[in-house]
Amino acid sequence: MKIELNNNKVFYNNGSSVEEIHPFWLRERVNGENFLDKTTQQRLFDPTTLNVEIKIEKAQINNQILEIDFNDGVNSKLDIDAIAKEFSKKDNFIHSIEKIKWDSDLKKIKNYDFKNELFESKEMYEILIDFYKYGFVIIKKVPTENNYLVNFANSIGSVRRTNFGEHFNVKSIPNPNDLAYTSLALAPHTDNPYRNPVPCIQILHCIKNEVKGGYSTLVDGYAVTEILKKENPEFYNILTKVKVRFQFIDRDVVLEDWSELIKLDEDKKFKQVRFSPRLDFVPMLEKKELDLYYKARKKISDLYNSEKFRIEFKLEQGDLIMMDNYRLLHGRTEFNSNEGNRFLQGCYIDFDSTEGKLRHLKRKFKI
Ligand SMILES: [Fe+2]
Repeated sequence: MKIELNNNKVFYNNGSSVEEIHPFWLRERVNGENFLDKTTQQRLFDPTTLNVEIKIEKAQINNQILEIDFNDGVNSKLDIDAIAKEFSKKDNFIHSIEKIKWDSDLKKIKNYDFKNELFESKEMYEILIDFYKYGFVIIKKVPTENNYLVNFANSIGSVRRTNFGEHFNVKSIPNPNDLAYTSLALAPHTDNPYRNPVPCIQILHCIKNEVKGGYSTLVDGYAVTEILKKENPEFYNILTKVKVRFQFIDRDVVLEDWSELIKLDEDKKFKQVRFSPRLDFVPMLEKKELDLYYKARKKISDLYNSEKFRIEFKLEQGDLIMMDNYRLLHGRTEFNSNEGNRFLQGCYIDFDSTEGKLRHLKRKFKI
């Protein structure tokens, strides 16, 4: 990528083509102290009030700085590298972290130890990178007093409050409004598929685990759906097309959202899985189509529940797991509440929290 000048016009040359950069695009980016607030990097002017027919009177490049005089009297000095960064036209950091697909062979999970100042440390950067690679990360020895989980979440970003509260306590209770609050096994599922938007990241913190069972289980929905795409494209296709209704009802609220079980992005790549077969309702489609849909749902359920894709581990007191609720499914094995306490606390944060923190740490440590 090269910036070139010709006849008071600015061009970028990407090696295969040369295109003019719109003068107004450059004018919008003026960054002198009268135009841009140094701290917030927010404009001190409103570009929508300017005449879009702006012209360049003079342009020159010296030491990687493009200096322009515009015909409205404004002079601007722009860093060429900063301009070049904008030509990717999309996020070139978070989405460039390669997702590593995994199954039950995933043996070596790197755990991190909690320490003071973790949230502003380089280690936090590594923790978040691991989170984006694998869809989860475990931090050990996290303080268990006074709902520290909420502090933890708010030190990365902001807790996403739901009707279950700012955080929720996962232990068996009488007359629960969700099966999570029993001692039953929970098959792999994603949380809250009935919300709009679905909470992005679940944080679970083990406060006490005195029972023999109650193992945590995780499945990589990305790995499973990629296998399905390869081996059963018909099943994959219908699960990426049919929108089903997810529903949650209790005394105070009726939550409902419609989505595909496998949601793709605009490039037809993996974006999100939702799976919670106790609360999904497929619309009444043609019998033939429903026939295919039910076979496809059964197949993906078999894969999610198979030992090939599931990892199983015991959360110890103080262990905190952060998991991507758009990518992973989670569950637990059954336990006997007469053996002792099994008490986890959970809360949600959204992707803006982890993305914002990661970009901040990248900037701070000049990575
Ligand atoms: Fe859950």
